[in-house]
Amino acid sequence: AEDGYDLWLRYRPLADSAQARYRPLATAIAAPQDDPSIRIAAAELHRGLTGLLRADVPASADAIAPGAILLGTGGDRRIAALGLPLSTLGREGYLIRSVRVDGKPATVIAANSGVGVLYGAFHLLRLVQTGDPIDRIDIRSVPKVELRLLNHWDNLDRSVERGYAGQSIWDWWKLPDITNPRYVDYARANASIGINGTVLNNVNAKADSLTAPYIAKAAKLADIFRPYGIRVYLSARWSAPIEISGLKTADPLDPAVAAWWKAKADEIYAAIPDFGGFLVKANSEGQPGPQDYHRSHADGANMLAAAVKPHGGIVMWRAFVYAHENPDDRARQAYDEFKPLDGRFADNVIVQVKNGAIDFQPREPFHPLFGAMPKTPLMMEFQITKEYLGFATHLVYLGALFEETLASDTFAKGKGSTVARVIDGSLEGHARTGMAGVANIGVDRNWTGSQFDQANWYAFGRLAWDPEASARRIAADWAGMTFSTDPAFVAPVVDMMMRSREAVVDYMTPLGLHHLMATGHHYGPGPWVDDLERPDWNPVYYHRADAQGIGFDRTKTGSNAVAQYAPPVARQLGDIRTVPERDLLWFHHVRWDHRMASGRILWDELVTRYDRGVAEVAAMRARWATLAPYVDADRHADVMRFLAVQAREAQWWRDASIAYFATFARRPLPAGSPPPA
Ligand code: GCU
Repeated sequence: AEDGYDLWLRYRPLADSAQARYRPLATAIAAPQDDPSIRIAAAELHRGLTGLLRADVPASADAIAPGAILLGTGGDRRIAALGLPLSTLGREGYLIRSVRVDGKPATVIAANSGVGVLYGAFHLLRLVQTGDPIDRIDIRSVPKVELRLLNHWDNLDRSVERGYAGQSIWDWWKLPDITNPRYVDYARANASIGINGTVLNNVNAKADSLTAPYIAKAAKLADIFRPYGIRVYLSARWSAPIEISGLKTADPLDPAVAAWWKAKADEIYAAIPDFGGFLVKANSEGQPGPQDYHRSHADGANMLAAAVKPHGGIVMWRAFVYAHENPDDRARQAYDEFKPLDGRFADNVIVQVKNGAIDFQPREPFHPLFGAMPKTPLMMEFQITKEYLGFATHLVYLGALFEETLASDTFAKGKGSTVARVIDGSLEGHARTGMAGVANIGVDRNWTGSQFDQANWYAFGRLAWDPEASARRIAADWAGMTFSTDPAFVAPVVDMMMRSREAVVDYMTPLGLHHLMATGHHYGPGPWVDDLERPDWNPVYYHRADAQGIGFDRTKTGSNAVAQYAPPVARQLGDIRTVPERDLLWFHHVRWDHRMASGRILWDELVTRYDRGVAEVAAMRARWATLAPYVDADRHADVMRFLAVQAREAQWWRDASIAYFATFARRPLPAGSPPPA
């Protein structure tokens, strides 16, 4: 049965005509055998081309035959003889070129490291998988971002925080002695999209993950991932010195605490020589941290950074902080706490910032910290798992969301200061750059809980490699590799994927509304909830609906969070006449009878948006139904079943939300509204 296990690396035979076209261009793979990553590249090409072209494409170190694919680094004699411009590729970039070797036509994949060659091999496979010509090829690709990481929110008991694809793929109990072949497929999938690091455990970390048995388990995974270019990182629990070794304190300025972390780092590096470093969630949602000792985030991060520095490690310090001591606007807190620390972090610290200031909502304006800490490298944290977007059940293509944030202009250094340019380091001149995605991976056969959620893992990797890449192009690649390259399939599916994000915004939280999900699990509507222990957990805190209107006033007359943006952005967003309607209720409390661009009053517009979201899901469902001829029956039916649930739940969101908000607006539904289901 087709269950989706192969992800986008399916390698099923191409159409006969395409096979015939590619075969003369892929007759053999010539690769040196001394580099483990190049051996893997050759094996992947062998596997992929053999499957796609229904022809044995042998891999060997031998002489070049016409149509061979030649792999190697500049250290390789045959590559060196080609005089390729490898010097600007860095460690991970690659070239793919049509060349002549000993007078014979060949395709060369060259890089400065075996991992670069592996990335190039996956790129060449993608071209074949999607039907792109490879006969006169000249490709140069260099990642714009250094750290391209998955963050697993996986617990040691194999539960996954906000995981909707079954248990954790890390079988901690059996590790290190017994390993699952799935770890290799995980590494292949990640390498194919350029992901080069993985944080194995939840940011809400347990100290146990830093004890000797778990270090040995992590070391085993690191050994498996190493030739795929993937480094292992761990989330560190701030209070680990107390919990593991009985220290009296975790004060970062206490020499005994610093010595403990240094010894711990030495112990980890003895087992994992290329260990990446630590990810830390501190003083957030009840987690311990340096502020417990009246020290700053910088004090904490720098102490840890000193421990890993001799080994070349880094510390990723999260800026996702909020506390109920600061109840007037949660959206302000990260900026208020971190902005004053700009320039105070050690050079191997990178501050990890969520895409928006609240928490992975269907839509958030970009986080005001981007562009606001020019002396500190900031890395992006996206959430691939869809905690607030219908879990793995709803079809929502996140490429569109990621792209929207990355393309947002911070105006920090004038027009064109996009978030992408903050993240890739080019705006502020940082060499240390990164993008993290909270993984959506679990033990489900299809890895991500649904077929289309694979696209979100895929898009994350591709955008981490190039934050200016097109989400639409990426969707087309994914759909072609995963299902079918027939344009009659790809065009409607890509269209559906690109619209799916706006659909979820419309049926959950249109016009800038946010954080209206039901308590705890965040699945389904709960805008009426007002009785949680912390005010900033209550949806009513965010929508602020009353008899006059709805929305969170973040302008001067309210929390003034809008002033955290650079002046041109603050002016635009802070003025009800210029704020984009998609962010209206994020920044303004707006009268129900406010006139919208459509000519409708706000209440009518709100209802119209909810209806539009529901209609869009119905259209997705109808469209997918017509695409059965292009997809195997198993996966087609699987997606169909998920869309049926999504259609029902989009209505649930709409009807519950409108019924609730109507108690404030006290107005009739606009003419032509469909009746509640
Ligand atoms: C969200 C999520 C938590 C998670 C937190 C974080 O609030 O609901 O489960 O721990 O983000 O990013 O730290």
